[in-house]
Amino acid sequence: VSTESGECQSRVKLLQHFGGKTSNRTKSYSENINKIINEVSDQSQPLWKNSAEKKGISITFETDLEKTENIKVNDTGIKSALYNLIKNSVEAIVKEGKIKIETEILNNNVIIRIIDTGKGMDEETRSRIFQPFFSTKGFESGRGMGMSGAYSIIKEHNGEIYVKETLPDKGTTIEISLPISLEDEKKVEPQKIPISKDITKILWVDDDPLIRNLASEILESLGIEGDLTDSGLKALKLLEGKQYDLVITDIGMPGMSGWELCDIINEKHNSKMKIAVVSGWGAEVDEETMEQHGVSYVVEKPFKIKQLQERINKAMQ
Ligand SMILES: Nc1ncnc2c1ncn2[C@@H]1O[C@H](COP(=O)(O)OP(=O)(O)OP(=O)(O)O)[C@@H](O)[C@H]1O
Ligand SMILES: [Mg+2]
Repeated sequence: VSTESGECQSRVKLLQHFGGKTSNRTKSYSENINKIINEVSDQSQPLWKNSAEKKGISITFETDLEKTENIKVNDTGIKSALYNLIKNSVEAIVKEGKIKIETEILNNNVIIRIIDTGKGMDEETRSRIFQPFFSTKGFESGRGMGMSGAYSIIKEHNGEIYVKETLPDKGTTIEISLPISLEDEKKVEPQKIPISKDITKILWVDDDPLIRNLASEILESLGIEGDLTDSGLKALKLLEGKQYDLVITDIGMPGMSGWELCDIINEKHNSKMKIAVVSGWGAEVDEETMEQHGVSYVVEKPFKIKQLQERINKAMQ
């Protein structure tokens, strides 16, 4: 249980980071990167040892740390980034393998390498790993937030993170480079995702609890208030009692379909309510149908946060 809540916490942290909600001020005192790595290694032991063993996967975990200078970092952020990189390495190892974390000082940078002998990546995957919500793990196991979260944290430190090497069935090396700055750390502006100011409330209708979960995480990360509900009927009830700026609805739902819901809303609100529909995986929604039901926006699955944000902004114009 403790692992799960730990994972959950780190996910929430990442999402908050992503939305620019946390204070991104780097610490005013120095941290030893090797110490941080040792701590994350311990914290992630349930991943690479206990739960791997339970699945019959055997992982050797080791560190090779060069004496590094202390640098000013946001230790929780760096820990969360490293935790997610280790988690990815663990998840890449099929039967048995090795994960190694190295540090080195190179040209006034601390270099951290996370090396695994996992299944590696093909070119397409490699080119997309830093995209929020990109995952090859299937909707239930991967949210695609690990790498994008790590990216934004490392960027806050004026550092770099990249795939140093990856070979299908051989393994992956992710490299992080953090500057050892001698001057006082400047305050780094958070990477806030701009969202239309007019938006106050969204009603999101989907019968799939996984999508509702994800939707609430997305809205939270974008700093938008929202209500989630699982049926057209409940949505109509909520709409009677409350003011919303945008309704986002799934199309295929048992009972009242998304299209039927759109029709009723339009009738009740004189076609003034902004409505977006969520299309099925890879399915296209044609413009004629949209027009017919007074829908102006389509959000495609899998969600990309950028796209969703664009749609929401557009809808509010
Ligand atoms: N060490 C690795 N080896 C192989 N593939 C990797 C590795 N790290 C990342 N990837 C690929 O990059 C994708 C994105 O990684 P990311 O951590 O962002 O999402 P995720 O692991 O799928 O989901 P989440 O981390 O949110 O649970 C993964 O789905 C996987 O395909
Ligand atoms: Mg991951």
